[in-house]
Amino acid sequence: MVDSISTRLGGLAYGGDYNPEQWPRQVQEEDVALMRAAGVNLVSLGVFAWARLEPAPGRYEFGWLDEIIDRLHAAGIAVDLGTPTAAPPPWFSRAYPHTLPVNREGVRIGVGGRQNACPSSPEYRAATAGIARALAEHYRDHPAVVLWHVHNEYGAPLGECYCEASVAAFRAWLRAIYGDLDALNEAWGADFWSQRYGDWDEIDVPRANHTAVNPAQRLDFARFTSDEHLACFTLQRDILRASTPHTPVTTNFMTANCKSMDLWRWAPEVDVVSNDHYLTAERPDNHIELALSADLSRSLAGGAPWLLMEHSTGAVNWQPRNLAKRPGELRRNSLAHVARGSDSVLFFQWRASRYGAEKFHSAMLPQAGTDSQLWRDVVELGAQLRELAPVRGSRVAAEVAVVWDWESFWALELEWRPSVDLRFRERVDAYYEALWREHATVDFVHPAADLSAYRLVVAPSAYLLGEVAAKNLCRYVESGGHLLVSYFSGIVDEHETVHPGAYPGALREVLGLSIEEFHPLREGETVELGDGSRGAVWSERVRPAGAVPVVDFAAGPDAGHPAVTRHDLGRGTAWYVATAVDRLRPLLARALDTAGVRRPHGLPDDLEYVRRGDVVFLINHGDTEVVVSEPSGTDLLDGSVWPGAVTIPPGGVRAIR
Ligand code: GLA
Repeated sequence: MVDSISTRLGGLAYGGDYNPEQWPRQVQEEDVALMRAAGVNLVSLGVFAWARLEPAPGRYEFGWLDEIIDRLHAAGIAVDLGTPTAAPPPWFSRAYPHTLPVNREGVRIGVGGRQNACPSSPEYRAATAGIARALAEHYRDHPAVVLWHVHNEYGAPLGECYCEASVAAFRAWLRAIYGDLDALNEAWGADFWSQRYGDWDEIDVPRANHTAVNPAQRLDFARFTSDEHLACFTLQRDILRASTPHTPVTTNFMTANCKSMDLWRWAPEVDVVSNDHYLTAERPDNHIELALSADLSRSLAGGAPWLLMEHSTGAVNWQPRNLAKRPGELRRNSLAHVARGSDSVLFFQWRASRYGAEKFHSAMLPQAGTDSQLWRDVVELGAQLRELAPVRGSRVAAEVAVVWDWESFWALELEWRPSVDLRFRERVDAYYEALWREHATVDFVHPAADLSAYRLVVAPSAYLLGEVAAKNLCRYVESGGHLLVSYFSGIVDEHETVHPGAYPGALREVLGLSIEEFHPLREGETVELGDGSRGAVWSERVRPAGAVPVVDFAAGPDAGHPAVTRHDLGRGTAWYVATAVDRLRPLLARALDTAGVRRPHGLPDDLEYVRRGDVVFLINHGDTEVVVSEPSGTDLLDGSVWPGAVTIPPGGVRAIR
């Protein structure tokens, strides 16, 4: 479906969130002229304009928006039209005060911010359906509208609600899942701490407590929360589809940065995957986290092109220290998203606001106006993206997959784990970074997905693994796949119940080992391994049962016992790593080579190398010039021809075809 947009645009989409309701008409007219100068061809409109579009219940005022859309259309700029439901107007909250969300501590959120309605509230859902229907009917035939942008970042900043409507909806959700209370009591391990339920109305949402709350209850509440927001989305989507069946519908995900939505369940429900990504400004190698987010977006899209819906031209305004981008960083960031499958480069936002909570956020048009380096960079980027039109629609191939499962993420980070240092993102990021530096392109996968396309599958933190997923991983190895698993994986099933027998119950067979005892390490403590590397966070007593030791712990509670093992099973191999190894790259290189993963060798480890279709993107994140011997061809960005080796200047980007 992305194709339908980029075909209509004739190339990659360029633009961003546009909030003309904050500006007088004269500025709006200037906006359109400047958008043309920058090469903008798509803007997201109306995302936070509910109070203007429906100033009183059922009274719709679309005239002002008609004028803006017509003006954009006349200038050849297409519209991604928002449904404004992420910020209900004050009249709504006043009429229905009980729709204001309640947080886990029991505090009811007030007006003045956004995301201020409970997703389970029938009144809220009805109001969102009303405005979505009115917009769909009014704009159904407008040629400028090429995409629907439902809501904004479902589940952020917080998805959960603990109000009375949520309690009722949670009970209904549980009834639909479990059917009867015996099944629920069993799934929740309700005999622990006398929690056996005799009536559905005894069940509550897992509010703040003075002790740990039943982990199965919390896990189901996390699933419920994701499902409730998804129901809000599909309600609007179906209304939009009924009026405009040929206009794709998206909602902007934060693929790697929103823990609260299970996006594997969401992705099939959108016509186009779109993503918002913001750098962690103070992290020096934040371009690696960017790559992870882009790869996860592409994976959610099933490998199809996706849309970068938001990122920033410079600083954001919500981190502790909001660093501006360094020279060239805007270009590198934007092109890295394109390299990894995005058919757009869109920003929050077009013009920097003068008021409101986000006035210190960067924009395509900064407070300094057009006489600024940032504006010149924005204009130049627009021109560069026109040169990249040939990559639109093409795909990125990956031979390595990293397992990513939101349910496991949620479960691992509940209360009372063996160590507070067991963090999902920490392990995923560590492995992803090593793979990035090894120039291995990565897809993300759900553990129960079809893995047959991959030579190597890495499971950095697969704490929760159901039976289906566990069998899937085992079958994958038996039929010739290579699997690498990190510690504290395969421990519990989907109800947070430990798999029977020794750890890791779900993976004993495929890994050819069991674990007798966990030995979490102290904060900052490390233990030496036999190959001179060091392990942190975790140590455990591994007992091989078919697996062979590759590296032993040389010190610490498990000295003399395996820290890394290898198990040849069927036609494949399964590796296990029992600690947070400081030197992951040699280990991964070995697994990559054993699996026969093809990747370029001998490149500097801060050169990003990604092939999309027949174009190789080379992004130099270092401060010295890099020469690579392959590929040869023409740089789409500046037309330079590289028949033998390609030179990439410090901080530079080439797109060689
Ligand atoms: C999010 C939101 C935008 C804006 C930006 C600021 O991604 O979707 O509305 O608040 O953050 O970075």
